[in-house]
Amino acid sequence: MAPLRSLFLLSLTVFIFTSCRADPDPLQDFCVADLKSDITVNGFPCKLASNVASEDFFFSGLTVAGNTNNMFKTNITIGNVHSFPGLNTLGLSMNRVDLAPGGINPLHSHPRASEIGFVVQGELLVGFVSTANVFYSIVVKAGESFIIPRGLFHFQYNTGNENAVAVMAFDNQLPEVVMAPLALFGSKPAIPIDVLTKTFQVDASVIQLLISKPRRRKNFLH
Ligand code: GLV
Ligand code: MN
Repeated sequence: MAPLRSLFLLSLTVFIFTSCRADPDPLQDFCVADLKSDITVNGFPCKLASNVASEDFFFSGLTVAGNTNNMFKTNITIGNVHSFPGLNTLGLSMNRVDLAPGGINPLHSHPRASEIGFVVQGELLVGFVSTANVFYSIVVKAGESFIIPRGLFHFQYNTGNENAVAVMAFDNQLPEVVMAPLALFGSKPAIPIDVLTKTFQVDASVIQLLISKPRRRKNFLH
């Protein structure tokens, strides 16, 4: 009986472990996204293999410097499955971040992805806050890398005197973003003021002030 029971427990453990993983192993070489399909699946359906071309595995969008002439002095160029359909099902994507001196990529999180950044030019103060509310932060310079664990609030801030450029890679084809100020003070419909005043333990006037601040639309930044 004992070996049978161990075998059963082992099988159960393997089953639970494998069925809890986020992304199954690929079942084919690639599945270039058919972005126009009406079929709804987790991700995108594949283009017919006969319609797949070399260009589907190529993306030049990150070669172009983003326009940082905005309130955050920052631009994010996105290389996710929408702009680069060959990424579909591969669990990968990449952004380019351009920051003018003093520019900030404001506090945000990616619910679906961890992020690894490589500084191409300039220097950045980067930081994130853990679930234990510990703030981890460091200045990274050209040639250096940093990581942001999945789901944690983080930022990049150009503390140098020159334009900074960084490339960010994600372990998800569509990491998406929760922008802290937008989620809290710019949602539609708005979160009730009472909820916000009680959450932050401040007067309604403070919340009104935060709500009144101009805010960039989510998809302008990401
Ligand atoms: C940087 O944090 C990014 O999400 O592109
Ligand atoms: Mn990020």
